[in-house]
Order: sequence, then structure tokens, then C-alpha cells
Amino acid sequence: MRTVLVTGGTGTTGSRVTAFLRARGVDVRTASRHPVAGDGRHVLFDWADPGTFAAAVDGVDRVFLVAPLSDTDPALAVGGFLDAAVAAGTRRVALLSSSAVTDAPTGLGALPPLVRDRVPEVAVLRPSWFMQNFVGSHPVAAGIRDRGQITTATGSGRVAFIDPGDIAAVAGHLLLGDPIPDGELILTGPQALSYDEAAAVVSEITGTAVHHTSITVEELTAAIEASGVPHAYARVLAEMDEEIAGGSAERITTTVQDVTGRAPRSFRDFLVDATVDAHRVA
Ligand SMILES: NC(=O)c1ccc[n+]([C@@H]2O[C@H](COP(=O)([O-])OP(=O)(O)OC[C@H]3O[C@@H](n4cnc5c(N)ncnc54)[C@H](OP(=O)(O)O)[C@@H]3O)[C@@H](O)[C@H]2O)c1
Repeated sequence: MRTVLVTGGTGTTGSRVTAFLRARGVDVRTASRHPVAGDGRHVLFDWADPGTFAAAVDGVDRVFLVAPLSDTDPALAVGGFLDAAVAAGTRRVALLSSSAVTDAPTGLGALPPLVRDRVPEVAVLRPSWFMQNFVGSHPVAAGIRDRGQITTATGSGRVAFIDPGDIAAVAGHLLLGDPIPDGELILTGPQALSYDEAAAVVSEITGTAVHHTSITVEELTAAIEASGVPHAYARVLAEMDEEIAGGSAERITTTVQDVTGRAPRSFRDFLVDATVDAHRVA
């Protein structure tokens, strides 16, 4: 029986990867810092505490890897973790990266080369921006809920937003399938929308007016920092918006269809389902 470790297993993507694999009878161990009631296969795991690595990777042959968040240089922690995982028998890793991140000597961009150096079979998932950012706890969602306002530094740049369920389906196929396809795995939804256009769809689906305002990178950095994010990471996040303004996120790919055999979900369909779910919970 194959055992898959899902780091960030309680998060947006990891929880969906876990559900996808468990629905197919795979033994999945979820890992995160907080205990999960009702998940007997959850293990306490902290990227900041290498003492938690051994129990997490014990008997694991495949890993879905969500790197430490808010860490401007995660390579040290991830390198130590991969050494422990490979020593324990891990042969395949699906790394959650981002279409906004390119390979680099430091930062998130250092992770794809690091993982490829250490692990025999590697899939680097590079999703576009998540549709989930418009619901739940993301600052975009909080702005919509609290003020009917989305604030970015993206101008009129378009984004090929993706449903995290589609990312999870791709990850699940890659963790189960054999072999891993070659090449870059840029994952996108079926259409690219500016934040003005996305705000109009949110307004229509929710029946509440939502507006988008674009500010400067400096103003956005200060706003993110004011919410408690360290300055360096706030700057990294704000500069990603500047890239979007320049057209970096408008590309649409066929990767979801190619890997899963079905089309990715549209922003409208995602929002309709999320709104229905929210009403069900309420
Ligand atoms: N949002 C976007 O639009 C977007 C787009 C492209 C790529 N991405 C990438 O997606 C990744 C985030 O994935 P996500 O949205 O699925 O995550 P998420 O929903 O923010 O969840 C984070 C998960 O990681 C766990 N975690 C946080 N800190 C941890 C630590 N120190 N040690 C161990 N576990 C920890 C959390 O559980 P605990 O709190 O219990 O530890 C949780 O399970 C980032 O790498 C980002 O670059 C995001």
C-alpha cells in the first residue's frame, strides 16, 4: 500500500489533495502544526522544528509539498526535510510552487532546483492565482466581505485564476500516476480576468456591489505590512501584483485538461458553488 504525506494537509490545496487521494483508497498522512479532530492519520509537523520531520516521513514514498509560508528563504527547512524523506524511502514529490515564481538562488524560486537535486521523481506545480482568494480567509476575501472592496496593485492586468480543486486533481493524478510527465506544469483556469472583471462577477453572483481599486506597489506593501506581515515578505507579495499589471498572469494553459482529462472550472462556477456552500453552512 502506498503512503502519501500531504504537508499543509489542512490548507486550501492540501485538504483537497487529501480528499482526492482518500476517495481513491490511498493511505494519506496529513501534516501541519495543529491537531485535527477526527483525522487519525494526521501528524504534528512544523517546518520550524526539524524534530518533527522523522515521524512525518516514516514509511512515506510520495509527498505533496507545501513549503513554509511567510518564509523568504525556505530552502534550509525544505532541504533538511527532503533529506529525511528520501532516507525514509520517498521517491516522488509534487511541489506546490506558483506561476508567479521563477527558479532563483534564494526564496521560493530556490525550491524547484532543490527538490530536483534530491528526489528521483519530481513534479513542480505552478498554479496561477487561486479562485479561493475571493472566499475564505484571504485578504481579498476579507476586503470583499468587510468593505465590498478589492485592493491590488494589478491595474488592468488579467489573471487566469484557478480553482484549487483543479490543482489538487492534477497533484493527485501526478502522485498516483506513472510516470510523471516532463516539462513545466503551469496550471490555469479557463479564462483570464482583470480584478475589475472579477469584481463584477462577484457582484453579480453575491448580489452585493464589489469594487476594485488599484494602488501603487509602495502603498500595497504598507497595507500588507500593517496587517502583520513582515516588510520583506509584504514587498514580495506587492511586487507580484506589479508583475500581473505587466501581463505576467494572463496566459492560459491546457495542463489541467491534459493531466486530468477534464476542463478546469470557471470563476463563475467556482463562485456559485462557494456561495451555495456558504449558505449551507449558515
Ligand atoms: N493563493 C494563491 O493565489 C496562490 C497562487 C499560487 C501559488 N500559491 C502557493 O500556495 C501555497 C499555499 O498553499 P495553500 O493556499 O494551500 O495553503 P494554506 O491554505 O495557507 O494552508 C497552509 C497549510 O500549511 C500549514 N502550515 C502553515 N505553517 C506551517 C508550518 N510552519 N509548519 C507546518 N505546516 C504549516 C497550515 O496548517 P497549520 O496552521 O495547522 O500548521 C495549513 O495546513 C504557497 O506556497 C503559495 O506560494 C498560492
